[in-house]
Amino acid sequence: MAVPFTAYLLTAKEEIPHLDDDLILLLNEIVSATKEIAGKVRKAGLLSILGSAGKTNVQGEEVQKLDELANEILLENLKNCGKACQIASEEIEDCLVVSESGYTVAFDPLDGSSNIDVNVSIGTIFSIHKDSLMKPGREQLAAGYVIYGPSTMLVMSLGKGVVGFTFDPESGNFLLSHPEIKLPEKGKIYSINEANRDKWTSEGLRKFIDYLKGEKYTLRYVGSMVADVHRTLLKGGIFVYPADKKNTNGKLRLLYEASPMSFLIEQAGGIGTTGRERILDIVPEDLHQRVPVIIGSKWEVEKCLEFLHF
Ligand code: AHG
Ligand code: MN
Ligand code: MN
Repeated sequence: MAVPFTAYLLTAKEEIPHLDDDLILLLNEIVSATKEIAGKVRKAGLLSILGSAGKTNVQGEEVQKLDELANEILLENLKNCGKACQIASEEIEDCLVVSESGYTVAFDPLDGSSNIDVNVSIGTIFSIHKDSLMKPGREQLAAGYVIYGPSTMLVMSLGKGVVGFTFDPESGNFLLSHPEIKLPEKGKIYSINEANRDKWTSEGLRKFIDYLKGEKYTLRYVGSMVADVHRTLLKGGIFVYPADKKNTNGKLRLLYEASPMSFLIEQAGGIGTTGRERILDIVPEDLHQRVPVIIGSKWEVEKCLEFLHF
C-alpha cells in the first residue's frame, strides 16, 4: 500500500532537521481538519451550507457559508492541538495569539469561494513559520494546500522538494501518490483573468500575453488559485494575478496565498515574483496585505519579466 501521510512524516524526520514531533502533530491536525472540510464540501448541497453567510469579511468580500465552516473547523483543530502560538486566517481580521512561542499558522480556509456553488475545484492553503507570522516566505517551515477536486489531494513542501498525497476514502488516509513534483522547465498554458486586461497597470503584461498567444499557448483559468497553481505545478506554464487599476497590489494575499504557493513553486523548480521582487523575500507588514503574483515555470516567468521591464 502507498505510504500514509503520517508514516511519510516520520521517515522524513531523518532528512529534515526542523521536522520535530510538535510540527508533525500540527501538520496532522491541519490535515485532519481538511478531511472534515472535504467531507462537508462533497455533500454541501445536502447540508444547506451552500451560498452566502450573509456577511462580509475583513477583505470586504461576501463570506460563503463554507468559508465560515472551513474556518471554524481549522480553528478548532489548531486550538485543540496546542502547537500553534499564532493563527491567522483570511476570515479573521486580527492574528489570534495563543502563546508566546511555537509554530504559527496562516491559512486560507477555503480558496476559490466563487466556485463553491458550481461544484468546481476549491481548496485550503496553509503556511507555517516558527514564532512569528511576519517573516519572509523563504523562512517557511512548511507550506501546502489541499485541493477538493475530482480527487482530494494534499500537496506540501517542508523545504526539500514538493510531495503529493491522494486521499483514499477506504482507509481515510492521505496516501503518497506524487513522491517528487517537479515543474516542467517550460509549459504551454497561461492562466490569468483576461476580463481584467484593460485594467492591468502594465502595458508590458498585455504584450506578454499577446506574445504567448502568438506562441500558440492555451488559456486555462479556473478562478480558484489552488486549482490554477496545482495545474501549473504539474503541467508547467504561468499563473498571473497582476496589479490592476482596481487592485493596485493585485488581489491575492501574501501570507496565506502568494507566499505558500510561491514556496511550493520554487521548491518544485519554478519562480514566484511580484514583477518587481521575489515573493519569498517580502517582509510582511500587514496580515492581509495583497501582492501581485507571477508564478510558474522558469522560462515563462523570465520571459514575462523581460516584457514587464522592457
Ligand atoms: P478566495 O476564495 O479565498 O477569496 O480566493 C479567491 C481568489 C483566488 O482563489 C483566485 O485565484 C482569485 O480569487 C480569482 O479572482 P478573480 O475571480 O478576480 O479572477
Ligand atoms: Mn483564496
Ligand atoms: Mn478564501
